[in-house]
Amino acid sequence: MNAFTRLRYRGSFMMRTLVSRSARLMRYCLLSLLGTLPLAVCAGEPVSPLLSPHQTIGTVNCASSTCHGSITPWEGSNVLQNEYTTWSRLDRHTRTYEVLNNAVSQRIVRNLGYKEPATEVKICLDCHAHNPTPARRGARFTQSEGIGCEGCHGPAADWIGEHAVKGITHSANIERGLYPTNQPIAQAKLCLSCHFGDESRFVTHRIMGAGHPRISFELKTFSALEPAHYRVDADYEQRKGSYDSVRLWAIGQALAARQQLDTLADPKRGHDGLMPELVLFDCYSCHHPMSDKRWTPRLGVGPGRMRLNDSNLLMLRAIVRAAYPDSSSAFDKAVRATHLAVSTGQTEGGAAPLQVVSKLSATIGAFLPRLEQQNFSPALQRKVLVALIDESAETSYADYAGAEQAYMAIVTVSNDLLSHGALKSTPALTDALARLLKTLRHDEQYDANVFRKQLSTLRSTVGVQERS
Ligand code: HEC
Ligand code: HEC
Ligand code: HEC
Ligand code: HEC
Repeated sequence: MNAFTRLRYRGSFMMRTLVSRSARLMRYCLLSLLGTLPLAVCAGEPVSPLLSPHQTIGTVNCASSTCHGSITPWEGSNVLQNEYTTWSRLDRHTRTYEVLNNAVSQRIVRNLGYKEPATEVKICLDCHAHNPTPARRGARFTQSEGIGCEGCHGPAADWIGEHAVKGITHSANIERGLYPTNQPIAQAKLCLSCHFGDESRFVTHRIMGAGHPRISFELKTFSALEPAHYRVDADYEQRKGSYDSVRLWAIGQALAARQQLDTLADPKRGHDGLMPELVLFDCYSCHHPMSDKRWTPRLGVGPGRMRLNDSNLLMLRAIVRAAYPDSSSAFDKAVRATHLAVSTGQTEGGAAPLQVVSKLSATIGAFLPRLEQQNFSPALQRKVLVALIDESAETSYADYAGAEQAYMAIVTVSNDLLSHGALKSTPALTDALARLLKTLRHDEQYDANVFRKQLSTLRSTVGVQERS
């Protein structure tokens, strides 16, 4: 087998999960009425559960049937109290440790030169389990349970006793180690810390080269698929502020784009020897057969060059175009300038290429407070939907990763429009979305022209609804 056959196998694995994800997402959306709303503003940078100074005590402490282990949701309680049951039965995070025992994991660690099994390798455990230092583990903590409650909600030794007592505030719990999952920016950081990486952990191209599957993530889609063990209803919104799925998606995109740009600009993570960190680039710009002549002009980057993976940046362009039209041409220019700086070294006014990268990250950072406050009304969501579709006119979606993000975004926005009655679930719409998904089935056979053609069908389907 050569590299491409092996990659094809991994590609079809990824696509299977995407297909089932989208099918599950559709179901989820029809069943649930999404409330939605706004977010409390982040106070300071939350510390990830992995690095928290507090003590982890183990999921078993949350699992009693009068706490979070009820079989069915409790009536009259403001939280469902069956969170443990949902997690233990349906959540893939219960399997993340187990996965480290499978043949793929064994091969990955062997290829990386480890003698010990993957379940003893820190870089694997940091993402595939909750992995606090031994001094911060209580007697009842078991790592083999995967990513338990404390892997997301923070080590609980100092807040578990009182967090359900009347009069204890959320901020008091946070001071004692509760992670602020309810704040969208903090939530996005948490998920991305494993579903992309952060300063302390990262799937490098070396790890991919050893056999790790490609990673893709979209905050709103993955929150629905986990599946959610919380119900966003009037009570939830009253306690936690308004919840807006499209805003959550947009914040997830902004943070993912920043995480990528900051990694590239980081002297430690941005390089491997003389080469830049290849995981930050479009996988398929290198991984396709030489006889497949597919280059087309794109964003000023000439032929024969590595292209940055711009899937999150493309989503942000659509968001800025729809929500902040006055900033749109400057933002487009900054994205282009970044592509040019990274791929060719050319910059305006002689800036160092990495300065251009950091500047774009800062620009995106400046959008975050606006996004946090943004109300994505149905009218604005329609604009976002159209902007996502119209990206294709600009030779965007040339890469699989961008098309995959676009699909998840289109489904997220359409579902929210459906839930507001601002879009009708007609057979034509369902059919257009199904066809779009079909073009993504095999990542290595992705054809941008076919994807764009299906997008234009979708465009006219949505347009017909607009006129009627
Ligand atoms: C930065 C976090 C991170 C690190 C580090 C990491 N992984 Fe993963 N791994 C993930 C995520 C996230 C997925 C799921 C990808 C998806 O489905 O989108 C995954 C998926 C996998 C899978 C496929 C799972 C399946 O269900 O078939 C295997 C096997 C795997 N990882 C093994 C490893 C091994 C071995 C290591 C250590 C060398 C490692 N991972 C390091 C985050 C990480
Ligand atoms: C992969 C991360 C993750 C894991 C694992 C996880 N949660 Fe959550 N949990 C979240 C997110 C995200 C939310 C939604 C944001 C919020 O309301 O804080 C949430 C919300 C909650 C809520 C609040 C519901 C409400 O209506 O206010 C409770 C209670 C909860 N989780 C309990 C648990 C328990 C118990 C476990 C372990 C069995 C667990 N969670 C495991 C991420 C996680
Ligand atoms: C400590 C690391 C970690 C954190 C934090 C984390 N995840 Fe994961 N997640 C993983 C790993 C590793 C896998 C791969 C499991 C597998 O394939 O067996 C995974 C799998 C998933 C899956 C299943 C993907 C599929 O292919 O079907 C979903 C959905 C998911 N995570 C959503 C989330 C969301 C939403 C958050 C934030 C609220 C989150 N995760 C936080 C490590 C993490
Ligand atoms: C700049 C070009 C380049 C980019 C971009 C790139 N790779 Fe690679 N990749 C390589 C090279 C070179 C090798 C080593 C091939 C060899 O050893 O024969 C490799 C090897 C691999 C392998 C191992 C194949 C084997 O022979 O077993 C995997 C898997 C892989 N890459 C995945 C990815 C993923 C996923 C991405 C995107 C996130 C990516 N690559 C981006 C150039 C690239």
